[in-house]
Amino acid sequence: MSPMDFGAPNPDSWLHLAEIDSTNGEAMRRALAGEAGPLWVIADRQTSGRGRSSRSWVSSPGNLYASLLITTGAAIAKVGQLSLVAGVATIDAICKAGPLQAGHSLRLKWPNDILIGTAKAGGILVESSARGCKEGIAAVIGIGLNLASVPTELRRAATYLAAHGVTLSPREALGLLAREIDAWLKTWDEGAGFAAVREGWLERAGPVGEPLSVLANEGHIEGRFAGLDADGALIIADKDGCERRFTYGDVSLANASLTADVQEKDDSL
Ligand code: BTN
Repeated sequence: MSPMDFGAPNPDSWLHLAEIDSTNGEAMRRALAGEAGPLWVIADRQTSGRGRSSRSWVSSPGNLYASLLITTGAAIAKVGQLSLVAGVATIDAICKAGPLQAGHSLRLKWPNDILIGTAKAGGILVESSARGCKEGIAAVIGIGLNLASVPTELRRAATYLAAHGVTLSPREALGLLAREIDAWLKTWDEGAGFAAVREGWLERAGPVGEPLSVLANEGHIEGRFAGLDADGALIIADKDGCERRFTYGDVSLANASLTADVQEKDDSL
């Protein structure tokens, strides 16, 4: 693939920073100052990268740290769906770049972890702010993708794209991602097209029946993956066969390999 094939966001709609605390933070500051987007904020390095559940995202140079600010007229209850929209788009962007195939080794884990095998290669953090119903909701879709490395201190399994034959610079990855997110945001259509996003997500995720556990407010729940509901919530069949629905929680695969390439840093994800 030639560099021209990667595409890039419109130069007026992206901001490239050498270093920032968090691209999500910068995009939200701009939203609160009146910027409506769409605007991509990309940084070579983050000093306080944010992950889900108030964890930090260790962000050394060479990987992708990017956030897309949009203003949406979707109902606030639907804004969380952007996380699934971004997950599907990220899988498609990676597929465009190399040998990995969606739904095989490259896949999604609810709500939006990007896995290769059972190791995490990327994560997504959506943050939003209602700025008044006339203006719509400012939503920041933050994506971290391990392109060239993972943090070296170990906890959970993690990996990076170059280890699997997908060699991309952050700029190339952004070009691919921007194109796929644009297409999937159109499909989502402020929530009206979520059924197609849900289908797309399921096609790029692990199989129904896969054993997993969820760490939710009520503790650890073990069961089997049973799909997504019409709004994107996770459905698990617990060990008694009862279906339980989760809108929040940390999901672990019961069959996660202990021999993944590298491991995830304790405070990164
Ligand atoms: C997760 O915990 O899996 C989500 C990680 C999201 C990290 C990305 S990196 C770019 C953007 N800026 C941030 O501070 N976080 C997100």
